Amino acid sequence: MSTLSPVSPAPVERKKITTLALRQKKERGEKIAMLTAYDYPTALALDRAGIDSILVGDSLGMVVLGYENTLPVTMDEMIHHCRAVARGSKSALLIGDMPFLSYQVSAQEAVRNAGRFLQQGGMDAVKLEGGRERLEAVRLIVGAGIPVMGHLGLTPQSVHMLGGFRPQGRTAASAGRLLEDALLLEEAGCFSLVLESVPARLAELVSKRLSIPTMGIGAGLGCDGQVLVLHDLLGLFDRFTPKFARQYAHLNAVMRNAFDEFIADVQAGRFPGEEHSVEMAEEEWESLLQELDHKEAKPQKN
Ligand code: KIV
Repeated sequence: MSTLSPVSPAPVERKKITTLALRQKKERGEKIAMLTAYDYPTALALDRAGIDSILVGDSLGMVVLGYENTLPVTMDEMIHHCRAVARGSKSALLIGDMPFLSYQVSAQEAVRNAGRFLQQGGMDAVKLEGGRERLEAVRLIVGAGIPVMGHLGLTPQSVHMLGGFRPQGRTAASAGRLLEDALLLEEAGCFSLVLESVPARLAELVSKRLSIPTMGIGAGLGCDGQVLVLHDLLGLFDRFTPKFARQYAHLNAVMRNAFDEFIADVQAGRFPGEEHSVEMAEEEWESLLQELDHKEAKPQKN
C-alpha cells in the first residue's frame, strides 16, 4: 500500500488574481509563480497550493497527448482542456495558449480564436508566440478586451525554423532583436511576456527594461517570475527533461510502483478486500437462496 501523506487541507479563500495583480507584484519586487495544467484535479491542487497563474500550455500536445511537438495541437483540444482547468481553479489567473495556426493566418482569425478561450474555455487571458510579426494580432486581441501574454526566445511552434529546441538570443544581434521585440510587444498591449531558454543576463536586462512582468523558463533568476511545464516538475514526462527544469517529484516511479502493486494484488487475490466489497443483508441472501431452491425443485414449463 502507498504510504503517501494526505493532501494538506484547502487554504482560506484567496482573491482572484488578475493581470493587474501580477504587475503590482513586479512593482513590489515579489516573484510570480506559474505552472501549466491540463485537467481538473491538477488545477484544483495548484489553486489550493496558492499558485499565481495557471497556463494551459500547448505543451499539452507533447506531455499529455503524446505528439512529437506542439504543432498538431488544435483549438478544440485546447478548449477541451481549458474547460477542465477552469472547473478546478477559482483564484489563479488562467491563461490559454493559442495553438499553431490559430493566430498566424490573419489578425481577425486571431481575435475570434482568442475569444473562444474566454467564451468557451473559461480562461482569463491568452498567450501567443512571436515578436514584431505578431503586433497586429496582439493589438486587435487586446482591443477586443482580451489580455495577451507574449512569448519570446525559444518559441516551440517555430521549432522547424529554429532548427530544433535550442536556446535563443546568444549573439549580440539576436539578443538586441529580442529586446526590441519585447519592447514592441509591451507597447502593443501585452500584459506579460514569457522568456524561454535565453541567456540569464539577457532575460534580466529585458525584465528591467519592461514595466510588464516577465516569466522565465530557462531564463535565469532575473525574470519577474518563473514558469515550468508541470510534467517536467513532477517527473511525469519521461521522453526527456529539459536542462532548465528541476524535478520536484518522480511521479513516473510512484505510478509504476502503484501499478506493479495493483497487478500483484489482483494476481494473488489480495484485492479487493472485504472493506472494498458491497454488503447484502443476511435475510435478503437467505430469501434469494430459498427462492432459487424453490425454482430448481419445480422445473419451469416452456
Ligand atoms: O506550452 C507551454 O507549456 C508553454 C510554457 C513552456 C511557457 O508555452
